[in-house]
Amino acid sequence: MVAPKDRLQRPMHDLRISVTDRCNFRCSYCMPKELFGEDYAFLPPSELLSFDEIKRLTALFVSLGVEKIRLTGGEPLMRPNLPELVRDIKAVPGVKDIGLTTNGVLLGRLAEPLYDAGLRRLNISLDALDPELFMSINNRGVKPEHILKNIEHAADVGFQVKVNMVVQKGVNEAEILPMAAYFKEKGITLRFIEFMDVGNGNGWGFEKVVSKRDILQLLQGAYEMEPVDQSYFGEVAQRYRYTDNGAEIGFITSVSESFCSTCTRARLSSDGKLYTCLFASRGFDLRDIIRRGASDEELMAFIANVWENRSDRYSEERTEESAISKPKIGMSYIGG
Ligand code: GTP
Ligand code: 5AD
Ligand code: SF4
Ligand code: SF4
Repeated sequence: MVAPKDRLQRPMHDLRISVTDRCNFRCSYCMPKELFGEDYAFLPPSELLSFDEIKRLTALFVSLGVEKIRLTGGEPLMRPNLPELVRDIKAVPGVKDIGLTTNGVLLGRLAEPLYDAGLRRLNISLDALDPELFMSINNRGVKPEHILKNIEHAADVGFQVKVNMVVQKGVNEAEILPMAAYFKEKGITLRFIEFMDVGNGNGWGFEKVVSKRDILQLLQGAYEMEPVDQSYFGEVAQRYRYTDNGAEIGFITSVSESFCSTCTRARLSSDGKLYTCLFASRGFDLRDIIRRGASDEELMAFIANVWENRSDRYSEERTEESAISKPKIGMSYIGG
């Protein structure tokens, strides 16, 4: 089957697979504790795609053009036996790259088994170095030292590590310079992510976004840096390099400079729904089709058809109104 293109001529190159909707953090901008309380109904294990189902779907997506896989959550390390899944996905012919996005809490235990399974790239989230502030963001009493130790450990094990920092005005702006200094010295790439209106009820507003422009200006007051060329078509982050030691930083500018025109990402939820945008209101139930006994050909035709009808470009269309009133899937459910 020929690789499908969507209505805006974008091919499907990346598949982001959420392996669980659970998380051991309650970041206010993603899983506010008021909405994800003790009695929140997470998916029961029987509703999650099995590793065999994920492996099968990965192979079908690859035959439709996907080359890069990213494992996400919720918090993906909470899925039991994750290294086994990494091994399975690595073994799918045509998978050129696999990465994982994590909050890093469980890496002390899992970095080595994941590396042994063949994973090489980790994106680890950390929003502040100040202990009180970080604890108030994660709402689970986890200190930054714990994540920093695990970042160090992952790098020692051999991983290429990038750190993701969501910047919110009035919350962690004061952490931009300390975070930059810390990771510059370590030679680890830090990426500043503009706060997005994901999910429903994360308190977003344009006034709470700190734009790439503002962050860059702040950093340029302290360091000399130069832009770095994109390393592949559709790269999400805009990169810069410190001229003195060569360490890099990145910006993910979903709000101030959207990148929908080159968006080649398909997303699979942990219960097997296919989403064509991070801000979609509905997904397409692949699990139901699989469990009804569909052939590979039927599944591929279905996926190709969904992709060919895709016209999403939410970040280009975002308004204050759509941010509040459009129903969207939850960030923790689809994994960013
Ligand atoms: P690599 O470039 O392979 O390292 O991965 P990545 O940067 O795409 O992965 P990561 O999970 O670290 O994503 C970083 C941030 O970019 C997260 O906040 C994502 O939600 C955001 N992001 C990734 N893809 C998209 C996208 O298609 N649209 C929007 N709006 N945001 C995205
Ligand atoms: N805006 C921007 N980034 C977000 N993330 C989670 N919620 C938001 C949001 N509202 C980030 C996480 C992680 C990645 C998967 O998405 O911090 O780095
Ligand atoms: Fe925070 Fe990531 Fe968990 Fe969301 S999924 S609550 S961003 S750690
Ligand atoms: Fe892709 Fe939707 Fe993000 Fe635009 S908003 S880059 S279409 S996921």
